[in-house]
Amino acid sequence: MAFLGHLRWWILGAAIVVILCTGAGAIDIFLEWHVAFNPTAQPLNLEQPVITINGKFPGPLINATTNDFVHVNVFNGLDEPLLFTWNGIQQRLNSWQDGVSGTNCPILPGTNWTYVFQTKDQIGTFFYFPSINFQKAAGGYGAIRVNNRIVINVPFPKPKAEYDLLIGDWYYDSYKLIRSLMSYPDVAYHGVPDTILMNGKGPYGRPLSISYESLISYESFNVTKGKTYRFRISNIGTTFSLNFRIQNHSMVIVETEGSYTNQITVDSLDVHVGQSYSVLVTADQDEKDYYMVATPKMFDVNDSISLVGIGVLHYSNSVSQVGGPLPAGPDPFDSNFTVTQARSIRWNLTTGAARPNPQGTFNVSNVTLAQTFVLQNSVAEIEGSARYVVNNVSHYTPNTPLKLADYFRNGLGVYQLGAFPTRSVNKDVAYRVSVVSGIHKGWLEIVFKNNLDITDSWHLDGFGFYVVGFGFGDWDESARASYNLHDPVVRSTTQVYPGGWTAVYAFLDNPGMWNLRSQHLRNWYLGEELYIRVYDPDPNPTKEQPPPDNLLLCG
Ligand SMILES: *[C@@H]1O[C@H](CO)[C@@H](O)[C@H](O)[C@H]1NC(C)=O
Ligand SMILES: *[C@@H]1O[C@H](CO)[C@@H](O)[C@H](O)[C@H]1NC(C)=O
Ligand SMILES: *[C@@H]1O[C@H](CO)[C@@H](O)[C@H](O)[C@H]1NC(C)=O
Ligand SMILES: *[C@@H]1O[C@H](CO)[C@@H](O)[C@H](O)[C@H]1NC(C)=O
Ligand SMILES: *[C@@H]1O[C@H](CO)[C@@H](O)[C@H](O)[C@H]1NC(C)=O
Ligand SMILES: *[C@@H]1O[C@H](CO)[C@@H](O)[C@H](O)[C@H]1NC(C)=O
Ligand SMILES: *[C@@H]1O[C@H](CO)[C@@H](O)[C@H](O)[C@H]1NC(C)=O
Ligand SMILES: *[C@@H]1O[C@H](CO)[C@@H](O)[C@H](O)[C@H]1NC(C)=O
Ligand SMILES: *[C@@H]1O[C@H](CO)[C@@H](O)[C@H](O)[C@H]1NC(C)=O
Ligand SMILES: *[C@@H]1O[C@H](CO)[C@@H](O)[C@H](O)[C@H]1NC(C)=O
Repeated sequence: MAFLGHLRWWILGAAIVVILCTGAGAIDIFLEWHVAFNPTAQPLNLEQPVITINGKFPGPLINATTNDFVHVNVFNGLDEPLLFTWNGIQQRLNSWQDGVSGTNCPILPGTNWTYVFQTKDQIGTFFYFPSINFQKAAGGYGAIRVNNRIVINVPFPKPKAEYDLLIGDWYYDSYKLIRSLMSYPDVAYHGVPDTILMNGKGPYGRPLSISYESLISYESFNVTKGKTYRFRISNIGTTFSLNFRIQNHSMVIVETEGSYTNQITVDSLDVHVGQSYSVLVTADQDEKDYYMVATPKMFDVNDSISLVGIGVLHYSNSVSQVGGPLPAGPDPFDSNFTVTQARSIRWNLTTGAARPNPQGTFNVSNVTLAQTFVLQNSVAEIEGSARYVVNNVSHYTPNTPLKLADYFRNGLGVYQLGAFPTRSVNKDVAYRVSVVSGIHKGWLEIVFKNNLDITDSWHLDGFGFYVVGFGFGDWDESARASYNLHDPVVRSTTQVYPGGWTAVYAFLDNPGMWNLRSQHLRNWYLGEELYIRVYDPDPNPTKEQPPPDNLLLCG
């Protein structure tokens, strides 16, 4: 635990934030979160439950610096169990704080529980969200920034300001209704969301036909001509990959999920479900207002114009309101556009990040693989329910979280290591508690194959992975010749194109029980996930931390 030092501020507002400075520069950040449904936060003036934190939707920013300790005391004011997960925060040696169903017992209604985690050796843009019970479709999410330590230069000039921008799809219905319909295979309701929100606000100038109430509020950012701004953009939605763009402005991609990238300029950016990026935007146009737009990929918005998310970039001396056509993006079905852009997002090898030494020091140009998993998704019917499967296996969530079963009973009676087929497809679809062994300090190659007609998105907790290749059609070992082992970007969520594959490498130096999941909420909720158990037999608590004092028990 960090050494508590001498400085202290109180920032009063909806949230109480206490910051204690420590000797080594890292600080303890204390947050108190009251989680509840709040009718005044309904983004579209529709009667639907919206999950707020301290009354706000989206929830408060977690603004940390490398190596800080974040204490979040969560009071569950919902009517059902709750967990938060910290998407992309690696929880080094400490999967006890990961906040998914396999690592933590849920926080029961009317009770509170305190997470304590460190942003160890990380920088970058991330977000948090409620991980169980389909609650992400009702909000409860917010931005996480992990800033560079002062002693390490950021590889671009300090922007005038930083803005968090959470974009994502949204349903008009209650998440409880949608959740209850998800697993009916024969219901025509396929769970397509209805609109796109920006920071919890509806589209500019698009009154919804079903909402005759007062105008819905939209998101707007103030800029001053000549200045450059950092936008930290995350797709916090459930289903749609989104293309983001700003009328008449280009963007420079500088960071993604904790890696500084080679800086490239784009007119629009594909942000897949669960991904985060930082872009620099320079206010270099006439002093007016401009549209900011997010549109779904693999979907023709002419079929549902409400699925265009619209915000406003407002110049401080603006002389006119937004006007002209919405900025046109790439054809949403153009796979060449999206894969070309994806391949152009590369790791900046020479810059420091969480540590002063260059990112590229620890690279994959000459690594020996210890394991390969080939994971294929698809949708299936099991015992009358729609389920998503990985290698024909749908994860079944046991009552006892896997991490607890592991600690107290060596997993006995809860899961069986080796029961999940990591390189082949089970001959029949089945439920299973999907836990696989990852070799501690071995390099793992994972090939995700996508048999669905959506762009899937896979996330690994506990690690950043090197995204070495995207391809279409079948994958076999010969595809490795096409990998980029020179400067693949390191991140924790990658898209997998329909009918395609994505290959990643991860170095399993972080013992724990780690969730590997589809970021698509429906897929995840219906079983498209597994856990990688990375085991270090060394009982030294500096190798893997023991359970926290406030460990919750269940199951
Ligand atoms: C976040 O923390 C950094 C570093 O302490 C500080 O400079 C910045 O002003 C903070 N930003 C916000 C929005 O609190
Ligand atoms: C619940 O909140 C109280 C009061 O803030 C705090 O003292 C206690 O440690 C919290 N309980 C847990 C389990 O975190
Ligand atoms: C943005 O600009 C508008 C008008 O120019 C002003 O009313 C508003 O307070 C500004 N917002 C912020 C956050 O500065
Ligand atoms: C955007 O740029 C085009 C081409 O320069 C120009 O015709 C148009 O008026 C601009 N749009 C706005 C809103 O300034
Ligand atoms: C959608 O509508 C626009 C404007 O009417 C048109 O240019 C475009 O081709 C349409 N897209 C498709 C896929 O039909
Ligand atoms: C694919 O897209 C890239 C960049 O957008 C372009 O340069 C290239 O010509 C395209 N290739 C094909 C086959 O369309
Ligand atoms: C990589 O980072 C360095 C700073 O260390 C910066 O000077 C350089 O421009 C970056 N390279 C690219 C291609 O963005
Ligand atoms: C990649 O790592 C090797 C050591 O494994 C090192 O010799 C090499 O310089 C690194 N490459 C870069 C670009 O930093
Ligand atoms: C590549 O790795 C192998 C085995 O790990 C090692 O023997 C060899 O020296 C390495 N080559 C370079 C250029 O680092
Ligand atoms: C997956 O399961 C389905 C349904 O049980 C079966 O028809 C299919 O052949 C299985 N796939 C493979 C590759 O065995």
